[in-house]
Amino acid sequence: ETYTSMTTPSQFHSQPLPVILLLFLFLSAATHLLLEAAAAEQDQQQRITRVGCADKCGNISIPYPFGMEPGCFREGFQVTCNDSSNPHRAYLANNGVYQRIVEYYDREGWYHQDWHKEGNNTPLELIDISVAKAEARAYGAVSSVCNPNESDYYSKCQQVWLGPFLLSVTRNVLMGVGWRIEPMVTSNLWSPLRGGDSSNEFTLTCISDLMGLPQFLKFAANGSCTGRGCCEAELPEAFPVPEFGLWFRSGRNNTMFETTPCSYAMVVEKSWYNFTTPDLYGYAVLPKRFPRGIPFVLDFFITNGSCPLKGQQPPPDYACVSGNSYCENATSGKGYVCKCLKFYDGNPYIPDGCQDIDECKLRELNPELRDSYPCSSDGICKNTLEGYDCPCKPGMKGDGMKGTCMDKFPLPAKVIVG
Ligand SMILES: *[C@@H]1O[C@H](CO)[C@@H](O)[C@H](O)[C@H]1NC(C)=O
Ligand SMILES: *[C@@H]1O[C@H](CO)[C@@H](O)[C@H](O)[C@H]1NC(C)=O
Ligand SMILES: *[C@@H]1O[C@H](CO)[C@@H](O)[C@H](O)[C@H]1NC(C)=O
Ligand SMILES: *[C@@H]1O[C@H](CO)[C@@H](O)[C@H](O)[C@H]1NC(C)=O
Ligand SMILES: *[C@@H]1O[C@H](CO)[C@@H](O)[C@H](O)[C@H]1NC(C)=O
Ligand SMILES: *[C@@H]1O[C@H](CO)[C@@H](O)[C@H](O)[C@H]1NC(C)=O
Ligand SMILES: *[C@@H]1O[C@H](CO)[C@@H](O)[C@H](O)[C@H]1NC(C)=O
Ligand SMILES: *[C@@H]1O[C@H](CO)[C@@H](O)[C@H](O)[C@H]1NC(C)=O
Repeated sequence: ETYTSMTTPSQFHSQPLPVILLLFLFLSAATHLLLEAAAAEQDQQQRITRVGCADKCGNISIPYPFGMEPGCFREGFQVTCNDSSNPHRAYLANNGVYQRIVEYYDREGWYHQDWHKEGNNTPLELIDISVAKAEARAYGAVSSVCNPNESDYYSKCQQVWLGPFLLSVTRNVLMGVGWRIEPMVTSNLWSPLRGGDSSNEFTLTCISDLMGLPQFLKFAANGSCTGRGCCEAELPEAFPVPEFGLWFRSGRNNTMFETTPCSYAMVVEKSWYNFTTPDLYGYAVLPKRFPRGIPFVLDFFITNGSCPLKGQQPPPDYACVSGNSYCENATSGKGYVCKCLKFYDGNPYIPDGCQDIDECKLRELNPELRDSYPCSSDGICKNTLEGYDCPCKPGMKGDGMKGTCMDKFPLPAKVIVG
């Protein structure tokens, strides 16, 4: 009816109001859609760097204080992006941060090397950076020791210098894989070769020992890292160190060099490596499987100073510059980290970096978060600046967050009212 009446010009003129109303409704809906799209886009592209700075290397996000170009990173946090591979690869560019491999060939006795060779210092390749956790993950090398025969051994050991960063004691473990092996990690890279001060040396070991007998190899079990083919040790809390090295305490007398010539050691992200018995057999199995390396976790923090006391003027280079952020002394006691306040999320190290969390959008996009942000299907999720609300749908009373929405009028009453 409306359609036909609107097709004739005379009627069109006689009925301007509905048309204008329609037009208005259409325009306001369109504007609303546009605004929503813009907001979504802003959400997706919430800035993580300083203005004008690249925020990605390949598919790795590089949030400030990390950065690539001059002016884009805080001192010590430079990242270089190597574009010769696809996707591009990111490296920690601070030249105090690197790893190297030291090789030894030993015939007999403790550190009576026939020869040894120190490899080149190579930068650490980044896997990812988490500002919220104040940690970065990087690829580290697998250390190995292999026996060409019963008496000799050849080892390749990792040494790491972390500069302004620390090895995370909670997120990494020492792991050893081998039928008879005692890997150790030391904190100050003292070595009998290099000499130096061993007084503040920290040593942590774990032992995997199948009694040195082939018939005990069957006691190694997949997924088990309890000293039979695989061992694991937690890093003690006193061990957030800026450098570490891996060594092997035993390497000789491998009566099973023909079947199990090699053993391995690694400081690796907890729960990442899953031991399987075939890893005991064959030559350089783990380095071949993980040619880029294995992930380990670094703690990062602002090294210059500590959190300003209440009422104290922060220093000019204070890092926690976003609104809705706060400062927390680093657990190592060697600096501080910045965090977003509860209900906020983002990068506290840049202005306006901490943004209100839209819990409603989050639970919509991530069903696994629906338990953390409850709102029943009878409720309407509404984001607010500090959290969110979940009132019941019209005609209902109760609390959508608790899932207690029910009809204001029970069905029989409704029927009567209707
Ligand atoms: C980057 O892409 C590689 C595969 O190309 C993937 O394995 C890796 O998890 C991605 N990293 C991030 C941080 O998304
Ligand atoms: C980038 O990586 C390639 C291949 O790994 C290497 O040859 C090259 O030297 C690297 N470039 C820089 C600038 O580090
Ligand atoms: C062990 O192997 C090395 C070469 O890999 C050889 O030089 C050495 O003589 C061998 N030792 C014995 C006891 O066979
Ligand atoms: C462990 O799993 C591998 C396959 O991943 C299998 O070949 C091997 O036999 C298993 N070892 C034991 C002891 O079950
Ligand atoms: C290794 O073998 C040599 C000679 O057979 C022996 O003297 C030495 O005690 C053995 N070492 C270990 C750690 O078993
Ligand atoms: C080990 O198993 C866990 C859990 O199944 C998995 O997340 C992880 O990726 C595995 N690690 C490797 C190196 O495959
Ligand atoms: C450390 O802080 C002091 C005082 O705030 C400042 O003068 C100095 O430049 C800062 N050093 C670095 C490396 O940022
Ligand atoms: C942070 O550390 C500094 C220096 O170690 C100390 O004076 C300050 O009280 C600490 N602040 C907090 C909040 O713990």
